[in-house]
Amino acid sequence: MSDRPMKRILVTGSAGQIGSELVMVLREKYGNDNVVAGINRTQPSERIKNSGPVEVCDIRKREQLDDVVDRYDIDTIYNMAAILSAVGEQKPLLAWDVNMNGFQNVLECAREKELVRVMNPSSIAAFGPETPRINTPQETVLKPRTMYGVTKVAGELLGDYYFRKFGVDVRGVRYPGIISSETPPGGGTTDYAVAIFYEAIKHGRYECFVREDTVLPMMYMPDALKGLMDLAEAPVEKLEHHCDFNLASMSFSAGELAAEIKKHIPELEVTYKPDFRQAIADSWPQSIDDSAARREWGWEPSFDLSSMTKDMIEKLSAKLL
Ligand code: NAD
Ligand code: SER
Repeated sequence: MSDRPMKRILVTGSAGQIGSELVMVLREKYGNDNVVAGINRTQPSERIKNSGPVEVCDIRKREQLDDVVDRYDIDTIYNMAAILSAVGEQKPLLAWDVNMNGFQNVLECAREKELVRVMNPSSIAAFGPETPRINTPQETVLKPRTMYGVTKVAGELLGDYYFRKFGVDVRGVRYPGIISSETPPGGGTTDYAVAIFYEAIKHGRYECFVREDTVLPMMYMPDALKGLMDLAEAPVEKLEHHCDFNLASMSFSAGELAAEIKKHIPELEVTYKPDFRQAIADSWPQSIDDSAARREWGWEPSFDLSSMTKDMIEKLSAKLL
C-alpha cells in the first residue's frame, strides 16, 4: 500500500451519466491534461472533448487499458464503465462481461503496474429481497436477484480480495439512484427519477414505470461526485471497509417526487404503468444506514428532495427551454 498522491487519472465510462460529470470535476481538481476520459462506443460531451484527453478504452480489452495507462502514466483509475440493472436484465451475459471481466482487467492492470488507487462504484443493487429494506445495515444479507446486482456483490468482494491479497488500494461506495441533469442515465431501474424531470419540463406529463408508492434511496449528482472523490482522498489507515460503503442521502416515493416537482410545475400530470423494473425496485432497500461512511471518512450529503428538485428544474429548464 502506498501513500503516493493521485496525479494522473483515467476515468472509464466517461460518456455515461456519472463519468461525464466526474471527468469535469476531476479536471478542475487535478488539471485538464491529467484526467483522461476513457470511452467505449458512445461519444463524450463537447465539454469533455474540448477540455482534455479522450481515449477509446473498452475495459474488456486489456491491451487498450494497458496502452492508455502506459501512454499517460496513469496512477489512478475511476472505473465508471458498467452495464446497469435494466439493460443488464436484457443482456445478462454482457453485464457479466463488462462488470466482472472488465473490472478484473482494471484490477489486474492496477496490480501489475502498481497503481496508487482504483475507485469502483457498487450499488444498492447489491441488496435483494431478503435484505432488511428500512435503514439497511452496512453488514447484511447480499442476495440480489438481478445480474447487475450479482456483479456488484462479486465486484465488492473481488475488490476487497485484491486489497487484502495484493495490496491494490481499491475503494467503492454503494450508490443509490443518482439524479442529474447533464447526461441521461444509461438503463437502470432508478431512471424514472430523472426522466420525470425531462418530461415535466418538455411535455408537462410523465408515464412512470414504477408504482406511485415505490420508495427508493436516491442522491443528487453533486453529492455523488463529492462522496466518491472524498473516499478516494481518505487516509487508508482510517478505512475499515473498502469496496462496499453504504451511502445515503434522501429517500422518497415516485408519488412524493411528482408532488415536489408539481410545486414548480403545477400542470404536471403523472400516470403509473409498472413494467419489469417494478420487481427490481421492489427487491431493493427503501433507506440506507450509511454510518460507516460517515464515521470512517466523514461522508455528509448536502442535498435533500426539496433542494435537489429546485436545482434540477433550474438546470434542465435552462438546457431544454
Ligand atoms: P452509465 O450507463 O450512464 O454509463 C456507463 C458507461 O460505460 C457508458 O458510457 C457505456 O458506454 C460505458 N461502457 C459500457 N461498456 C463498456 C466497456 N466494455 N468499456 C468501457 N466503457 C463501457 O452508468 P453510470 O450511471 O454513469 O454508472 C457509473 C457507475 O456507477 C457504474 O459502476 C454503476 O453501476 C454505478 N452506479 C450508478 C448509479 C446510477 O444511478 N447512475 C447507481 C448506483 C451505482
Ligand atoms: N441506478 C442504478 C440502476 O437502477 C442503481 O445501481 O441500475
